Amino acid sequence: RKFSIVCIPGDGIGVDITEAAVQVLGTLSDTFGTFTFQFTTLDWSSKNYRQRGYYAPEGGVEGLKKYDAIYFGAVGWPDVPDHISLWQMILPIRTTLNQYANVRPTRILPGTVSPLSACAADPSALDWVIVRENSEGEYSGHGGTTPSSAHAAHTVATEVSIFTRVGIARIVRFAFETALRRPRRTLTMVTKSNAQRHGMVLWDTVFYEVAREYDGRVAYDKMLVDAMTVRMVTRPQSLDTIVATNLHADILSDLAAALSGSIGIAPSSNLDPSRTYPSMFEPIHGSAPDIAGQGIANPIGAFWSAAEMVRWLAGASDGEGLGAESMVHAADCLMQAIANVTEQGVKTRDLGGKSGTKEVTDAAKKRNAGA
Ligand code: NAI
Ligand code: MG
Repeated sequence: RKFSIVCIPGDGIGVDITEAAVQVLGTLSDTFGTFTFQFTTLDWSSKNYRQRGYYAPEGGVEGLKKYDAIYFGAVGWPDVPDHISLWQMILPIRTTLNQYANVRPTRILPGTVSPLSACAADPSALDWVIVRENSEGEYSGHGGTTPSSAHAAHTVATEVSIFTRVGIARIVRFAFETALRRPRRTLTMVTKSNAQRHGMVLWDTVFYEVAREYDGRVAYDKMLVDAMTVRMVTRPQSLDTIVATNLHADILSDLAAALSGSIGIAPSSNLDPSRTYPSMFEPIHGSAPDIAGQGIANPIGAFWSAAEMVRWLAGASDGEGLGAESMVHAADCLMQAIANVTEQGVKTRDLGGKSGTKEVTDAAKKRNAGA
């Protein structure tokens, strides 16, 4: 089966790691022979924004609907305000394509070290999936700034969160289904329903309503987001699947990535669980201007995201049978290749190693090819 993948490398290290992921996916499909990828690359970058005045052209986001999946690098550069790059690219893609579930797994890879002492003896203590609400909440974009240049000292800005029962229920249900498929069958819901008394309280209410459907099948509990940061650091083994709002899960997943060793290894999937539209796969890190162009970006978050893409594509409704099975196996093999590479010490600097992007990529390709 042939899959058409549209790549949006974006800016900075997004370009390097997308190129690395495309290479690794190519080796993977050559090795398995049961599926191939046809890649299309779009130049929606900050550089082009400065030259043309837009990231995605008119109708560009709609045009993504014809592909099987979207592979995204990172967008953002110091000479464009970050809210412009975010709002012209990544956020419209997520909302237009119904990608309401953002899934962010975290594990400690072999041969890497977590800053958590609790994980020194037992790296398996940290094995989480963070499910992030990806379509509403704090990133709804509602609000405004008073037009008061004459009274700048009194400027007022509002940033209004939107929480809907439909939006909460569908992400909570998705999180329970995720937890159900994991060995520990445990879900922790995170809000801040003490200080925020409307939207967060609705989250709690809807969570407990949906939870009833899973009584006896999934163990669940509730945390306030501030206390959650402490629990992640002091009792990582007590957590498994986590569900939280757009903003909270954004922050918690960066923390999770750092606790697992580096933000450079962390993957994410922006899923349309209804499979009406293509889903999007991207490492969680940004364009890293501080290390861009040096050939030292860690490509592992990009490879892991690619593995998640292969796994998701395997589940396409018309992809059942042998082909799908072999793609799930291919995703597992890619994850195994990543683990072998880090275990052997082929690591970039953020993981305490000395290798560059190319060395890690070549090592992963070699592993994939069974060498
Ligand atoms: P960042 O993730 O780009 O970098 C944070 C730190 O982690 C830097 O020190 C960087 O060198 C390091 N780092 C990140 N990825 C790495 C990798 N693969 N290998 C080795 N080290 C890595 O976050 P930052 O600096 O806050 O944002 C930079 C730009 O990226 C901004 O314009 C921001 O808006 C954008 N951004 C875009 C995202 C996206 O496209 N989804 C996500 C996060 C940030
Ligand atoms: Mg983030």
